[in-house]
Amino acid sequence: MVYQPAEDRYRDMLYRRCGQSGLMLPALSLGLWHNFGGVDTLENARAMVRRAFDLGITHFDLANNYGPPPGSAEESFGVLLKQDLAPFRDELIISSKAGYRMWPGPYGEWGSRKNLVASCDQSLRRMGLEYVDIFYSHRPDPDTPLEETMGALDYIVRSGRALYAGISSYTPEQTQRAAAILRDLGTPCLIHQPSYNMFNRWVEDGLLDVLADEGIGAIVFSPLAQGLLTDRYLDGIPEGSRAAKPWGFLKARNITPDKLQKVALLNDLAKERGQTLAQMAVAWILRQPVVTSVLVGASSPAQIEDNVGALTNLSLSDEELNTIEEILAS
Ligand SMILES: NC(=O)c1ccc[n+]([C@@H]2O[C@H](COP(=O)([O-])OP(=O)(O)OC[C@H]3O[C@@H](n4cnc5c(N)ncnc54)[C@H](OP(=O)(O)O)[C@@H]3O)[C@@H](O)[C@H]2O)c1
Repeated sequence: MVYQPAEDRYRDMLYRRCGQSGLMLPALSLGLWHNFGGVDTLENARAMVRRAFDLGITHFDLANNYGPPPGSAEESFGVLLKQDLAPFRDELIISSKAGYRMWPGPYGEWGSRKNLVASCDQSLRRMGLEYVDIFYSHRPDPDTPLEETMGALDYIVRSGRALYAGISSYTPEQTQRAAAILRDLGTPCLIHQPSYNMFNRWVEDGLLDVLADEGIGAIVFSPLAQGLLTDRYLDGIPEGSRAAKPWGFLKARNITPDKLQKVALLNDLAKERGQTLAQMAVAWILRQPVVTSVLVGASSPAQIEDNVGALTNLSLSDEELNTIEEILAS
């Protein structure tokens, strides 16, 4: 059936400015790392992308290697773009990345100009796009001069392959240097994509301050700790969950009794607030003004609806924040 997006799709979503740029991003964005690959069903991927867009999620995040197999998430998204979303291209922010291993040999990963430009071209072909909105250096490369990697991002933007440049998982110091190089080149760093959630708070140790100082936005990945910070694993590892899949990045050994005990207490607190734990985990991240968007993953349209529901109760009292700290420290 021909897709007609919901007419009220911009009614309830919040849009936040990305750093000091002109770009607004939805407070929740959808990542296609898991559940959109060749091993997954296209119909479920379609249902999720449609539901997301109907709820005002205008930003879809990809990378060259998402799948499995690597590249297949971009191929699937390309099909959905062609069949459903092509008429709405100007309402979408689509991102991709290069840096992790994608093809054999010395040019298939890291931060050389060779890798970034070739990988960007491959991503565009897979998605059937003329340009992506944001192109990222997916990880810092200890052996390539930062000037080369940032120069490649600048070139990718100037050549029309991307509208904006971003970096992912760079340390505070690397971020400062990358921002200075990009500023000098005339292509400001739009955005940083770090991991951040209640169990993983490294960004609070300097990165968020650097981003605020530099006027760079943050879009945080794995906000639900890959599903741990939800009610998903409270009664064991369900069939079909990320931890149950052989290719899932979340491993059963990461779901420790200590973590589950905290999750159960956090879940009780979320219930007292009248929301799900996933929703409270999203609200907890959005309390940081420098965070532009929370980049969630999902395996069903219902999860996307649940996560977007966080927006109806984003305020956390000092008492609730203290309780969260106590639970995390227990
Ligand atoms: N830059 C980087 O290096 C990097 C690294 C990792 C991720 N990312 C990006 O960040 C995106 C998000 O990462 P992520 O998938 O790890 O994020 P996440 O939101 O922490 O985890 C997503 C998983 O949580 C579960 N879930 C989501 N909503 C739920 C709900 N309401 N109730 C219960 N369970 C729920 C689902 O697990 P089930 O599948 O088990 O249902 C879903 O697959 C990725 O898709 C990718 O775009 C970037």
